[in-house]
Amino acid sequence: MSTLRGVVGGAHAVRTGAQAVGNLRDWAGDLEGHALAVVRPGTVAEVQAVVRVCNDFGLPIIPQGGNTGLVGGAFSTGTDDAVVVCLDRLNTVRRVDPVGMTMRADAGCTLQQLKDTARAAGCQFPIALGSQGSCQIGGNAATNAGGLNVLRYGMARDLVLGLEVVLPDGELWNGLSALRKDNRGYDLKQLFIGSEGTLGIITGIDVKLLPAIAASATAYVGVASFEQAMALHGDARRSCADLLAAFEVIGSECLDMAYLVNPGLAFPVSPQSPVHIILEASSCGPVDVRALIENFLASQLDSGRVLEAVVAVNQAQADAFWNIRESIVEGQARRGYHVRTDLSVELGDVALLIDRARALVAGHYPGWQPQAYGHAGDGNVHFNVLPPTGMNETAVRGDGDALLADLYSLVVEFGGSISAEHGIGRTRRTQYWSSLSPVDRRLVAAVKHVLDPGGLMNPGCLVPTVKENS
Ligand code: FAD
Ligand code: LAC
Ligand code: ZN
Repeated sequence: MSTLRGVVGGAHAVRTGAQAVGNLRDWAGDLEGHALAVVRPGTVAEVQAVVRVCNDFGLPIIPQGGNTGLVGGAFSTGTDDAVVVCLDRLNTVRRVDPVGMTMRADAGCTLQQLKDTARAAGCQFPIALGSQGSCQIGGNAATNAGGLNVLRYGMARDLVLGLEVVLPDGELWNGLSALRKDNRGYDLKQLFIGSEGTLGIITGIDVKLLPAIAASATAYVGVASFEQAMALHGDARRSCADLLAAFEVIGSECLDMAYLVNPGLAFPVSPQSPVHIILEASSCGPVDVRALIENFLASQLDSGRVLEAVVAVNQAQADAFWNIRESIVEGQARRGYHVRTDLSVELGDVALLIDRARALVAGHYPGWQPQAYGHAGDGNVHFNVLPPTGMNETAVRGDGDALLADLYSLVVEFGGSISAEHGIGRTRRTQYWSSLSPVDRRLVAAVKHVLDPGGLMNPGCLVPTVKENS
C-alpha cells in the first residue's frame, strides 16, 4: 500500500471502506466487491508505475471506469488482494479536429463530456446510454458499448479509430491514430475493444465524430404486439431514407416501473397499448425529418399497424419521451434484485423470442413478472423478470438463477447471444465459457495468455483464471 501511495500520492490510494464504497458496489446494488486498494493515477506514467508495482507484488489489477457496467467486471467479488485502478483523474480531452471530425481524449473522460465537447465543436459523438453522465469513454471501449443509436452508428467498436493501452507488464502500447483508413496488418486495437479490462488498461482513445444533428423528430407510438412492432421497424427502415437513428420497444408491462419513479407520469399513448415504441429520425442537413416521420406514421395509422402515435412538438417533449424509457430502467433497479438479461437474436426472431420467454415464465415461475424492452432495431431485447413481492431472498436468488439459465438456453435455441451489449464480466462468465466450442476456447485463451501471461489483468472476468484453468 505504501508503495502504491508513493506512486499516486497518499490521497489517491485508499484501502477499502467508506472512501471506496462507490467503487466496490455495482450500480444496481446487487454485487458487493473487495479490494486491497483503490488507486487513482493522475497520468499515463502513473498508470504504468501502478501496473509495475502490482507485477512486482503479484497483485491482480482491475481497471475501472465509471463503474456503471452491468456484469460485474469492474471489481472483484471473490479475492480481496486486487488493486482497482480508477481512471477518473485521466479526464482531459487532448484534441478536437472538427475538420477531420475526430477527437482524442483520456480514457477517464465521461461519455457526456465527450458528447458536450463534440457539440461545442459543431459535431456529434453518437453513443447514447442511460449511464452517459457517469460511464467513461475507456469503459465504453472496454465493453464495446451499444445503446440507443446503434442501428444508425454502430457499437463503440465502429467509432474508435485508435487506442493507447498500458499492457499487463506496464509497457505502453501507442495505437493512437486518427486515420480513417489503415490496413497495415492486424488491427490490434480491436483486440482491446470489448476485452473488459482483461488485456490492459486503456488510457487514451481516438474517436470518430459526425456532423452535428441539425434536425430530429421523435415519435411515441402504440402497437398491438411485438410482431407488429418489428414489422413497423422494417417499414421505418425502408421509409426513412437512412435517417432512422433509434427504434426502442417497451412492453406495456414495464410502465409500472416508470410510475414507480414518477407517479404523476402521463404517457403519450394509452398505457393499454400492448407495445410502446420510441422512434427517432435525425439529419445533419436541411431535411424535413418531422414531415418524413409524420407521413410515415400517417400511412401506418391508415393501415392499422399503428394504434396511436404522437410526434414530439419540441425537444422538451422528445426528452420527456426518452425520460419514460430511462425511468423504466431506474424503476426496475429500485424494485431490487431481479433477473436482468441482454439477449440478441436475428430481427425476424425478436417477437417469437419474447413470446417464448413470457410463456416460459408463466409456465414455470409463477408470480414472476416479465418486463420486455430494448433496442429492437438491433435485435437486442432486455427481457428482465421481477420476483414475486414477499418471496424470501434465498428463494428469490435460487429461482432467479434457474430462470436465468432457462432464458439463456432459450436464446441459444434461437442461435442468439446471451450478451448483446453489456459484455461477459464475472456474472456471465460461466455460461459464456461453457458455450464456447473447443476451438473458440483455445483461441480466446491463447490471446489472453500472449498479452497477459501472468494472468494478473482483471482475473476472473470474461475468461477463467489461470488457477481455474489448471
Ligand atoms: P466500468 O463499469 O467501470 O467497467 C466495465 C468493464 O470495462 C470492466 O470489466 C472494467 O474492468 C473495464 N474497463 C473500464 N475502464 C477501462 C479502461 N480504461 N481500460 C480497460 N478496461 C476498462 N450499456 C450498453 O451497452 N447499452 C446501454 O444502453 C446501456 N445502458 C445503461 C444504462 C444504465 C442506467 C446503466 C447503469 C448502465 C448501462 N449500460 C449500457 C452499461 C454500462 O454503462 C456500459 O457497459 C459502459 O460502457 C461501462 O462504462 P464504465 O466506464 O462505467 O465501465
Ligand atoms: C438499457 C440498458 C440496461 O438499454 O442496456 O437500458
Ligand atoms: Zn440496452
